[in-house]
Amino acid sequence: MKEVLVIKGGEKLKGTVSISGAKNAALPLIAASLLSNDDIVLSNIPRIEDVCIMLDLIREVGANISKENNTVSITPQVTDTVIRSAKAQLIRASILLAGPLVAKIGSLKLPFPGGCNIGTRKIDLHLNGLKALGAKVKVGSDFIEIKADKKLRGAKIELPFPSVGATENILMAATLAEGETVIKNASIEPEVVDLQRFLSKLGAGIEGIGTRILTIEGVEELTGTQYSILPDRIETGTYIAAVAASGGRIILKNCDINIMENIVQKFTEIGVNIKHCNKGIEVSMNGKPLPTDIITQPYPGFPTDMHPIMTSVLSLAKGRSTIKETIYDNRFQYVQELKKMGAKIEIKGDTLIINGIDKLKGTRVAATDIRGGAALVIAGLTAEGRTLIENIKQIERGYEQIDEKLRSVGAEVKRLKL
Ligand code: EPU
Repeated sequence: MKEVLVIKGGEKLKGTVSISGAKNAALPLIAASLLSNDDIVLSNIPRIEDVCIMLDLIREVGANISKENNTVSITPQVTDTVIRSAKAQLIRASILLAGPLVAKIGSLKLPFPGGCNIGTRKIDLHLNGLKALGAKVKVGSDFIEIKADKKLRGAKIELPFPSVGATENILMAATLAEGETVIKNASIEPEVVDLQRFLSKLGAGIEGIGTRILTIEGVEELTGTQYSILPDRIETGTYIAAVAASGGRIILKNCDINIMENIVQKFTEIGVNIKHCNKGIEVSMNGKPLPTDIITQPYPGFPTDMHPIMTSVLSLAKGRSTIKETIYDNRFQYVQELKKMGAKIEIKGDTLIINGIDKLKGTRVAATDIRGGAALVIAGLTAEGRTLIENIKQIERGYEQIDEKLRSVGAEVKRLKL
């Protein structure tokens, strides 16, 4: 039996939504927990599918885990360095186990990482970084094996592109390497900075936190800590988009708009009112969105993960918008689904040309990936009639209780078993 979401569009939103912890901080922090010799307690962990998979993977190498609501306690012992589970192929973040395990134990063998099907998603920068620290890499047809005969040694590494995952992997490996590692052109995404803060709390020697140049002085061992994951800026942006498309007024609790300037600026530009209030932020919208032009870029630019969600909003704008996708080479698969709902979108190379229409129409569509799925939810909230979304597993990989949260602000969303 498969589950689907059925949305009856047209309700204005009203009420309060509590934002969960960031998926893309939780995943590297769970991997980084393996570096420690003592217990780690992570709070504000989102209860989503990708987090469950990551916890299963660290359990597979020996960690003990206990969960209570949004808190996860990890005893990071490692008894095995081979991941056999095909689950590793369901998420891209499985490769983030390489840095911690190779630095602490000296090896890791795992299936090729997968994740959202949104582009080529190479891992060369991860592997080159680990090689620069002294690891040997063997790439088989479906497995990767990374080994270090002796302790990793610090190195100077300049990333040709500020990759989020490569920065995280090299940073984690460097914390237990001998001597100093310098990472130039590091990613400064808030989730990467959260990892840096977490590692510092474990006792890692990191200078340049939050900047493009990180200097890491390796230490003998890392100790335990308690840490609360930062709020999810893409989930926050998704609920702002829900209001932008449907109209209404909602309050978002437990979010941090200081880490989402570019997102807030774009929503403001298209007519959404966003202001601080004592509980969090208040988001309201009257009338139709204005058109705009967007280029996705690494932080602090407009995030690629907001692109599909923005496409749904701009499908209803008063005029023509463009979105240029510069991070992924195949992030447009969701567009065919939105077109089934009547959206007028043209793909020209790496750019979408979106001609705003008056109303989308509900129909049967399928989530192609996490954010493409979220885009369909936003479209469904405003569409005429009912939208049935299949393959909602993709949405659940990244959004905690999206149907419940939307119902709590007055949307007509049902989860049905077919
Ligand atoms: N890239 C390479 N080689 C590498 C690494 C990356 O060519 O070794 C390329 C990728 O192919 C891609 C681009 O660089 O085209 C960006 O990749 P990056 O490494 O920066 O991203 P990531 O670590 O794979 C994380 C998030 C993604 C988010 C990107 C960009 C996690 C678990 N995932 O991926 O999140 O899109 O950063 O911000 O942190 C999502 O949440 O839906 C999602 C896809």
